[in-house]
Amino acid sequence: MLTPYPDLKELLCRYEQEHILAFWERLTEQQQRTLVAQLEAIDLALLRRLYQQRDKIQAAPSADRIEPVPVIPADAPEREQRRAEGQALLRQGKLAVLLVAGGQGSRLGFDQPKGMYPVGPLSGKSLFQIHAEKVLALSRRYGQPVPFLIMTSPATHTDTVGFFEQHQWFGLPKEEVFFFQQGTMPALDLATGRLLLESPGSLFLSPDGHGGTLTALARSGLLEQMKSRGIEHIFYFQVDNPLVRIGDPEFLGHHLAARSQVSSKVVAKRSAQEKVGVFARVDGRCAIVEYSDLPEELALATDDQGKLKLWAGNPAIHLFDVAFLEQMTRDPEKLPFHLARKKVPCLGADGQLIDPPKENALKFERFIFDTLPAAERWLLVETTRASEFAPLKNASGEDSPATVEAAILALARDWLEQVGAEAGGKVEISPLYALDVEELATKVFAGTRFDGEWYLQ
Ligand code: UTP
Repeated sequence: MLTPYPDLKELLCRYEQEHILAFWERLTEQQQRTLVAQLEAIDLALLRRLYQQRDKIQAAPSADRIEPVPVIPADAPEREQRRAEGQALLRQGKLAVLLVAGGQGSRLGFDQPKGMYPVGPLSGKSLFQIHAEKVLALSRRYGQPVPFLIMTSPATHTDTVGFFEQHQWFGLPKEEVFFFQQGTMPALDLATGRLLLESPGSLFLSPDGHGGTLTALARSGLLEQMKSRGIEHIFYFQVDNPLVRIGDPEFLGHHLAARSQVSSKVVAKRSAQEKVGVFARVDGRCAIVEYSDLPEELALATDDQGKLKLWAGNPAIHLFDVAFLEQMTRDPEKLPFHLARKKVPCLGADGQLIDPPKENALKFERFIFDTLPAAERWLLVETTRASEFAPLKNASGEDSPATVEAAILALARDWLEQVGAEAGGKVEISPLYALDVEELATKVFAGTRFDGEWYLQ
């Protein structure tokens, strides 16, 4: 048996966390090593500070600091020009795409990584496959490899990598798919600030939020690698949205024309009450105000046409300038931690697992959109939910498999109508068949009618 490392024991005592070694004697050497490695990887001083500031950290901005932001409309007159500029960059191979897939998907309640969930209404394709095929179609169209960076977490890594291997990387060149793991954060007991144990030899740890992308990108060496191969921009998206237009050239063109450091897509809020973060100017900087932080009078405020003043919801689709990302990763402390009060099953003093009846723990996450206020140059481009945003979050009701499936079918129907064809029944379109409506127009004749079920591939 190992003796607990004296330095570590002393450190734990200094931060009143020595209870974490309560079951030390019962652990195997291997378990002891694991626990020591977990403890060495955490920053006890930071955790103490976060706990002490728990009621102050998320002070919401007051109403007088929040203003509406300008948004480029979806039908901007310069859109053709912008698309051509975006396409030129894609032909130069200067774009990488980054998928964040480290979340635990707790609301969906699927026992595998969310990206493995089958969402294709007729094809049964998983979210991962749909995304990967879009990346493949993009690289074929522009004749350049598109590096596909996939962020996982300890909770999703092994299954995700295994899934890609099992499916031969969905046709992508293996060397263009880069997996990297995000970090974790411990949870603290709400009443005492003490670390929680998940088992006698293991802390309760969870992924450190999608804001963990920055540290993980830098630590993995991938940011440097992308830069050295001439990548100038990174398209960021989340695993749960099968409609996302990966590498959208028009969006890219707007981003380039404004020399923007971060650009984001925007969708209109469904209602003033919708629980979605909104883009706003806060102290003159672009930011996202979480729904829980938005003062009610501002959430409800309308202009003289009755439109919500703060209408610009966040579908989590961003474009980052690589130099800006580098600047952000130099000082990860720039991204604040957000606190959430959660129910976390953990060990009691007697070593028995407690399933708490109410919130007992503080969890800490960083959010990617907290990079926005650091940008000197930024822009927002409007899009619609129907064309680009249908996230899979819940097992039923809103944003569930049923609504996602309906959104995929509705988009295919809309594309067919735009090219003068018609879907009499259910049609799903593979990204490898048509990446967008322009490509569909080259393959489907006007006047064609699709009755029954059609998977266009
Ligand atoms: P959500 O915040 O919706 O979380 O993540 P989730 O894990 O999908 O689901 P719940 O909240 O547990 O039900 C939005 C996106 O950010 C990624 C998720 O994988 C998803 O693509 N994410 C979230 C990470 O990559 N890491 C994290 O630590 C958190």
